[in-house]
Formats: sequence, structure tokens, C-alpha cells
Amino acid sequence: MKILELSLFNFRNYEEEHFLPKAGVNILLGENAQGKTNLLEAIFLCCLGRSHRTPRERELIRYDQPLASVLLRCEKGDVTRSIRVSLSQEQRRRVFLDSLPVQNIGELMGQLNCVLFAPEHLSIVKQGPSERRRFIDMEISQTYPSYFYALQQYAHILRQRNNLLKAIADDPSLLKTLSAWDEQMAKTAAFLIRQRRLFLEKLSELARRNHFEISGQKEGLLLRYEPNLEDEEPASILNALESGRKRDLRLLSSQIGPHRDDFALILDGRDLRAFGSQGQQRTAALALKLSELDLIYQETGEWPILMLDDVLSELDSARQGFLLERVLPVQTFLTTALPVEKMQGAFLFLVENGHVQPG
Ligand SMILES: Nc1ncnc2c1ncn2[C@@H]1O[C@H](COP(=O)(O)OP(=O)(O)O)[C@@H](O)[C@H]1O
Ligand SMILES: [Mg+2]
Repeated sequence: MKILELSLFNFRNYEEEHFLPKAGVNILLGENAQGKTNLLEAIFLCCLGRSHRTPRERELIRYDQPLASVLLRCEKGDVTRSIRVSLSQEQRRRVFLDSLPVQNIGELMGQLNCVLFAPEHLSIVKQGPSERRRFIDMEISQTYPSYFYALQQYAHILRQRNNLLKAIADDPSLLKTLSAWDEQMAKTAAFLIRQRRLFLEKLSELARRNHFEISGQKEGLLLRYEPNLEDEEPASILNALESGRKRDLRLLSSQIGPHRDDFALILDGRDLRAFGSQGQQRTAALALKLSELDLIYQETGEWPILMLDDVLSELDSARQGFLLERVLPVQTFLTTALPVEKMQGAFLFLVENGHVQPG
């Protein structure tokens, strides 16, 4: 996949800007607060329909403006597509694919795949489970839109079920309606658990290889799925929900289900979440990111767009070299505040106060 053009209108600190990236590595060089991450955020928005930085869409609109939009033209195989996201102070964002309005954001999934690597991802190993769940969810959704729909559905069921648990506390006669939600929850949960298991098995194999290449160490990296519910059968999930019902009613929220899942990164038998040194955690995070890239390629036959936001300076030169070698076949957007050494196949753009120009 390749981005041919990115146009921004009143997006963050960009008034009107047309950026024509190159097929290889696009180095976006600029001082702090000039708009480098904003540019990546605009790309991310076109890939996944939301910002990677904020759930509040209005923050994306240039201060004091009513509207903003991002228009992206990209190439997938030999097909050219356009994705437009319109933002307004008044309504929810609207997305257009080849000028046609997208009804459910799931339709956008897989149109333009991306992998974003920012300094905060270096700590994914030691962050809380919700960050790791977000990672898995985003990744599977991009290669498998039905997963995204199931995820939306699960979130809806969970909300309804939690509301109902609270309502039952006031009106016990509502208890009889809980089973219907349990059944739906069990079905959707079963699907999510199965997909996560399959995904983590594939990712684990790629991560093991990448980790070996980066570290040169014989010790193996392994990803281990830690589902909150072991079972993948709707019937046994339903049983578990029924057994946990008393507790749910007491705590007024759903205590079990894939919304409580996690996965562990295990190096040489040790859980890196608890026992890894910072160096080991970072190497594992880098291996994980590269595996994300590999897996999208493996599943779709196309390299996703890679965005590296200020990560080079966080890595030692051996890891930097490894990373830059791996990105060669991939259209890459690399932001940096410090000039980087001349790289083969790289193009320099200068980012200054909401403008991007060839350097
Ligand atoms: N909605 C907005 N309207 C105008 N400017 C904004 C908006 N949101 C952020 N900015 C500006 O964008 C700049 C930060 O851009 P960013 O891309 O994060 O910088 P960097 O180049 O360091 O990655 C800051 O100057 C900030 O004031
Ligand atoms: Mg930045």
C-alpha cells in the first residue's frame, strides 16, 4: 500500500496543506510542536477512522474553525482509492470512501492498513492489560473486518448488560431479561476469544523470529494469550456467565469476559511484564511491532503503511539499523527532531509551523 497524496484542511495546526509523499522512506524533520505527529495522526485517522491520540474529535479541528477535513489518496495493488474524513464542531465525523459515505466504520477497516510505532509503544510490555488489548484489537480489525464488527457488538452488549445489572438493583423484576443478554454475550465473546487466540499464535511465531534477529540471542520470545475465559464454546461461556451472575449483580458490572483479557510476553520462561529489564522490554516491543508489520503482509499480501513517530532516538544504533533495514520495502513516515544519517531510498521533508516541504 502506498499513500500518493495527503491533503489537510484546518486539521490541527494545518490550514491547507497538500503533501505528496514518496514510495520509500519519508523523513519528516522538524523542531518540536511543528506538526509532525499531527501529520501521522491524519494518516491514522484515514486508516482507522479515529485519532491515536484522543477520543475527542473536536480537538483535531484547527482552533476557532467550524470544520476540518483530511483527504487521502492511496494505491493498493493497482487500484487507486480516496478516503476523506470530515470533522465538524457540531456532528460526528463522516468518512467517505471514493466519495461514497461510509455507514459503518468497519467498512473502512482494511482499506488502508497502517502500523504506528511511537515511544509510548516501547512500554507496551509493562503497561496495563487495556493497552495490550487495544493493540490486539486494532491489529486484528485491520486484517479482519468481521472482528471489528464483533468488537463493536460486544461493546454494545457489555454496556447494555451493565446498565441492566444496575437497573435490576432497583427493580428485581427485570432479572428475567438478563438471560437474553447473556446469550448474546456468550456468542460474541466466543468469536472474539477464538480470533484472539488464532491471532496471537501467528504473531507469536513472527515475534520469536524478529526477536531472535534483533537480539541475536538464542532465548526465545513467546506471546501467551491469557483469556479471562478459557473456553471458546458459547455454551460453556454461558454457563460461566450464569455461575458469575450473583457476583455481577452484587458488583453491578460484568466481571468476566474478553473485556478482561490480556497477553504476556515471555522471554526464556520469564514474564517480561514483571521481570524484564527496560532493554529487554524495549527489544520485545520492537519485535512485536515488526511482527505486526509482517503479519499484515502475510494476511493481505500487501505491506501496510509504517509510521515511526520519534522512535529512532529512543533506540540504540544497532536496533535503529535493524529497524531501518526492515522498512525498506514499506512506505514509511518517520518523524524526527534531529537530522538522521543519509539513508538509501529516503526522502527528506521539512515540517515547520503547519507546512511540509521537500528538504
Ligand atoms: N486543534 C488545533 N488547532 C491548532 N493547532 C493545534 C491544534 N492541536 C494542536 N495544535 C498545535 O500543533 C502543534 C503540535 O503538533 P505536533 O504534530 O504534535 O508536533 P510535533 O512536530 O512535535 O510532532 C502545537 O503547536 C499545537 O499547539
Ligand atoms: Mg510529535
